[in-house]
Amino acid sequence: MARTGVFVTLEGIDGCGKSTQASLLVDALRAAGHEVVALREPGGTPISEKIRALLLDPANAEMAPECELLLYEASRAQLVRQVIQPALERGAVVVCDRFFDSTYGYQYGGRGLSEQLVKTCNELGSCGVVPARTIVFDLAPECALQRATKGGADRIEAEGLAFQQRIREAYLRLAAQEPQRVHLVDAVGTPEEVFARLADALRDLFGTLEGGEA
Ligand SMILES: Nc1ncnc2c1ncn2[C@@H]1O[C@H](COP(=O)(O)OP(=O)(O)O)[C@@H](O)[C@H]1O
Ligand SMILES: [Mg+2]
Repeated sequence: MARTGVFVTLEGIDGCGKSTQASLLVDALRAAGHEVVALREPGGTPISEKIRALLLDPANAEMAPECELLLYEASRAQLVRQVIQPALERGAVVVCDRFFDSTYGYQYGGRGLSEQLVKTCNELGSCGVVPARTIVFDLAPECALQRATKGGADRIEAEGLAFQQRIREAYLRLAAQEPQRVHLVDAVGTPEEVFARLADALRDLFGTLEGGEA
């Protein structure tokens, strides 16, 4: 019988704490004995990293929303085929900092592209691979932007609060649409407090996970 791993994705607006929690989660899963493949989107393969550089370059401010959508999907498809599917087939846990729900949040919620169009493109870009669990770290945009801009803003973070608020609302809509897969985690508090909530939201998949230092 083919072994199948567990695919977990972390979502939320810029600065909500995804990367911080991804690092804590990866450490905790490894400490529990799992083989873990840690990824972040866009990126994770040589081709996907080149696409990432195009997407995040502040010089590309003229990029059309449709171009942006397709670049994200192109980057994702390469990551799924080259890394995520093989890892899941050998039984690894894959933790991805952003996946197709970011495209739902940003390209549908943020940019205003059609919801159905974005979902259809997500099916193609993900090559039909759906996370077992998706955690949305929920935080007010004011608080998240304050966290995110401490280190300087990139092109996407520079869009401002109204944009982030629309993205947050799209994530909330998604959690209501797919409550089995998409779990909301309150991102207020210290990294350790947020991690305890994250571990709770994954307990049915991994049992008890012990958090370390952020
Ligand atoms: N719970 C928290 N409380 C305060 N600051 C945090 C917390 N989690 C993360 N940070 C800080 O906020 C900034 C954004 O966090 P990060 O994990 O990079 O968010 P994201 O990956 O969602 O954009 C970082 O400087 C990080 O150290
Ligand atoms: Mg991050």
